[in-house]
Amino acid sequence: MKKHVLIIGSGGREHALAWKLAQSPEVGRLSCAPGNAGIAQLAECFVLSSQEDIASFCQREKVSLLVIGPEQPLVEGLADRLRAQNTPVFGPSAKAAQLEGSKAFTKRLCMKYNIPTAAYGEFTDEAAALAYLHGKTYPLVVKADGLAAGKGVIIAQNAQEAQGAVRDMFSGSFGAAGKCIVIEEFLEGEEVSLFALCDGEHALYFGHAQDHKRAFDGDKGPNTGGMGAYSPAPVMTQTLQTRVMQDIIHPTMAAMKKEGAPFQGVLFAGLMLTKSGPKLLEYNTRFGDPETQVLMRRMEGDLFPLLLASATGSLENMQVRMRNEAVICVVMAAQGYPGSYIKGSVIRGLHAAQALPGCVVFHAGTTKNGEDIVAAGGRVLNVTALGVTIAAAHEAAYRAVDAIDWPEGFCRRDIGWRAVA
Ligand code: AMP
Ligand code: GLY
Repeated sequence: MKKHVLIIGSGGREHALAWKLAQSPEVGRLSCAPGNAGIAQLAECFVLSSQEDIASFCQREKVSLLVIGPEQPLVEGLADRLRAQNTPVFGPSAKAAQLEGSKAFTKRLCMKYNIPTAAYGEFTDEAAALAYLHGKTYPLVVKADGLAAGKGVIIAQNAQEAQGAVRDMFSGSFGAAGKCIVIEEFLEGEEVSLFALCDGEHALYFGHAQDHKRAFDGDKGPNTGGMGAYSPAPVMTQTLQTRVMQDIIHPTMAAMKKEGAPFQGVLFAGLMLTKSGPKLLEYNTRFGDPETQVLMRRMEGDLFPLLLASATGSLENMQVRMRNEAVICVVMAAQGYPGSYIKGSVIRGLHAAQALPGCVVFHAGTTKNGEDIVAAGGRVLNVTALGVTIAAAHEAAYRAVDAIDWPEGFCRRDIGWRAVA
């Protein structure tokens, strides 16, 4: 019998997952909540506003696999709720999602199980945190413990900035996320995102990518959710991949099992490739956005059996194949992002962009207004292109960007610069 898959989320990540799952011969029906204008071309979109709504939808509509995109519902226990009624879920339990939901949890786990990461201190008390700063060398990194939409990390260049960040976090500028803070050593090197599918017991390497967090060219401007990504990254050699799996991912899987929180879903390791080897900066317990857009374009074969195997504990002996070609994803955002921006501007030229060889456009914050596709969020479109080299993919992606007629949007023009150079 053909399977019914429900995806939770509304971003470019979820559009890319929907695009890949729609190609599966095993998937007969695809639903998404809430989705966006691009996802609506591939899946039926629903508004399901609570865990209970999602749970009864899964029962009523005989959902064979629930795929949870963003971190918030994971931390809130959506996967636990659905597993309790025997719906197979791709995504970790609330307990296992602490790897993303609490930086202090992850740091403690790393220390206990010898997983390479930056040296750190953990504080729930402002005076103790300030005292810890005495005699430290700078830069130093101050982090809010909980989920802070990527904004809870301050790189302090001197003692004054560090004290300011500590006071700021304890005064509640990050809400409950800042009740506990982590202060850690600054690591130097190149950053890379590595993904592993996990089933509680086994972990399977699922590719890597490099993200561009800053809003503007040359890595300038404020931090964002991610302005573009590419894969493969030349710095991430086969040797390094193997080393990260051996020294970081497999030990984490074993540790989580031992702690009574086996990890199922995708483990997204934010890594710093330092002179003394790869070190863990942070874990996310879901797919990256926009990294997933490039991984879905690079992946060969069927995604559905892999996600189902992660959900049912049967990943052992499964394989992932990636194309040799490179993929670039350029994020187009509404002018003003990541600050305030206007919604409702009309986007034209999407068909022309999609018609270019090797190009696929994934939607993020879009909606339909009559026949028009209009912007409805900060990050709005993800233009992806395939190429024999990163440079070729880069050229193809920007050709597609230039075919899109959206004066109210902007993008970086230098996605992939490290690899192109
Ligand atoms: P995180 O949310 O912990 O990944 O931090 C966000 C960003 O801050 C990372 O992608 C890095 O660019 C930077 N960062 C975090 N921790 C460190 C560190 N220990 N050393 C250098 N940069 C860091
Ligand atoms: N692109 C970074 C993230 O998804 O958190």
